[in-house]
Amino acid sequence: MMPVGPLMIEHRLIERMIALIAKEVRKIKESNAADPEFIAIAVDFIRTYADKLHHGKEEEILFRDLSKKALSAEHKKTMHELIKEHVLGRKNTKDLFEARDKYVRGEKDSLQEIVKNMEILAQFYPEHIKKEDKHFFLPVMSYFSKEEQSAMLNEFYEFDRKFIHFKYNDIVSGLDVIKKEMKI
Ligand SMILES: [Fe+2]
Ligand SMILES: [Fe+2]
Repeated sequence: MMPVGPLMIEHRLIERMIALIAKEVRKIKESNAADPEFIAIAVDFIRTYADKLHHGKEEEILFRDLSKKALSAEHKKTMHELIKEHVLGRKNTKDLFEARDKYVRGEKDSLQEIVKNMEILAQFYPEHIKKEDKHFFLPVMSYFSKEEQSAMLNEFYEFDRKFIHFKYNDIVSGLDVIKKEMKI
């Protein structure tokens, strides 16, 4: 398998979550109420799976190695666009989570912010994924030899293998800090 294989498989799960987000936006508009639990799950999915795990492999391995190659002007431009889009996705996810917090605190006008950020995510991710799947991932593989592709695939697997340990180390460290600050 080419190293972009696992990335394209991950896109299919991200698309499923994005479709659920789009469905939830329609529900919010009909009922004029948000489901904070759904938003918390969606935000965790985007932060952990789509951003840290998936964009992590793209930026820290694939794009890192591509930036060492003599890329065409078009591929260089697309890679910069993709990186900028990751930044935008992070910002919208953060804004969505903050709007959810406000909503839970009873600030009802936060519903507009929730809808706005969910709509941006639902629109942006499918376009981002299409750009990678249809116009970037396969053509840029030609910059790498078979050996380099195989080394990259192994690095992806190693990234995945370590990932769950990083995530839960982070969670425990976060709790530890909170407990120390609160002197519990
Ligand atoms: Fe991406
Ligand atoms: Fe991607």
